[in-house]
Amino acid sequence: MSKVLVDRFNRVHDYLRISVTDRCNLRCVYCMPEEGMTFEPEEKLLRFDEIAEVVRVLAGYGVRKLRLTGGEPLVRKNLVELVRMLSAIPGIEDIALTTNGVFFAAKADAFKEAGLTRINISLDSLRADRFSLITRGGDIRRVLDSVAAAQRVGLDPIKLNVVLMKGINDDEIEDFLQLTLSGRVQVRFIEYMPIGHDDDGWKTKYVPLSAVLERCERMGWHVQPHGEVYGNGPSKNYRIEGAPGSFGLIHPVSDHFCETCNRLRLTADGNIKPCLYWSDEFNVRKYIGDDEALAKLFFRALDVKPQNHEMAQALLGASQSHVPTMRRMSQIGG
Ligand code: GTP
Ligand code: 5AD
Ligand code: SF4
Repeated sequence: MSKVLVDRFNRVHDYLRISVTDRCNLRCVYCMPEEGMTFEPEEKLLRFDEIAEVVRVLAGYGVRKLRLTGGEPLVRKNLVELVRMLSAIPGIEDIALTTNGVFFAAKADAFKEAGLTRINISLDSLRADRFSLITRGGDIRRVLDSVAAAQRVGLDPIKLNVVLMKGINDDEIEDFLQLTLSGRVQVRFIEYMPIGHDDDGWKTKYVPLSAVLERCERMGWHVQPHGEVYGNGPSKNYRIEGAPGSFGLIHPVSDHFCETCNRLRLTADGNIKPCLYWSDEFNVRKYIGDDEALAKLFFRALDVKPQNHEMAQALLGASQSHVPTMRRMSQIGG
């Protein structure tokens, strides 16, 4: 067995995204339906000690970076404790969180002290009424408090995730870019992804991210590539000349970034997902406790990892080479 998690296309995987729950306190329109979701019963979720075991084994194969996701990771009780357990594992250098920000402010100090290094917060509108519509009930003030708390405890960089949607928030591109002119945040514009369910929302709401660069041009803003924002993901980063902040473009649909994919996923119910888009899954539960067998399972998952996703084909209604996942984004963790 190789000592690093390399796949058939020579991509080295040093990053694990761990979904800790499929539940969420919000219902973002691009992620979950308003009603009718069924959730995993608690006994089906990996326990914290099981997650830490998986990470300990993978750290021996070069995994250095972790991201905790959901659903909403903070609806899982005592998440700070998990961060503490993971940050104590030799080899782990970066522990990040992707959250909706509603519950973070009160726990910012505890997370930082436990070893959290970075945070990405979803913020799809800067207007309170619209934010509430997109999230179906979210209170933007709590999210903004969390952004401030993350800044106060020194989490850096702070990234704000904006899924662009036609006719819903694409008129706010300029407002979000203005944020980068006034502060040190990184705003990340994300293309709406057609993932895991047959809801056709994205067909009518998808916006290619060329819209962001076009807006900069129209404003007369000079944009430069920006290499300094730390990240492990697919974002292409830019800065408006002179701005303290920056912005990133995550465009899986219009231009995929699979050739540099460095990540594996672990779902809350214990399945390795080698790619977020396809249906292949490998359950770790019965291998926990047997380090070699567990490592082998990860290599098996990497062996079937396709070269790329085929979201654009889905967009065109064309046939695909593998079977796409039926999981929703909330059951994958992004
Ligand atoms: P950093 O750059 O390390 O801060 O993290 P990240 O951008 O990978 O993490 P985040 O959870 O904030 O994800 C931002 C967006 O990128 C979400 O919409 C994710 O679904 C998407 N994303 C992350 N990884 C992948 C990937 O491997 N493939 C695709 N298609 N989208 C991804
Ligand atoms: N397309 C793109 N991004 C999505 N996210 C959730 N669902 C989608 C989708 N269909 C984003 C959230 C969050 C991250 C985990 O994934 O906005 O920031
Ligand atoms: Fe919850 Fe995140 Fe999905 Fe919104 S995108 S419903 S905050 S899991």
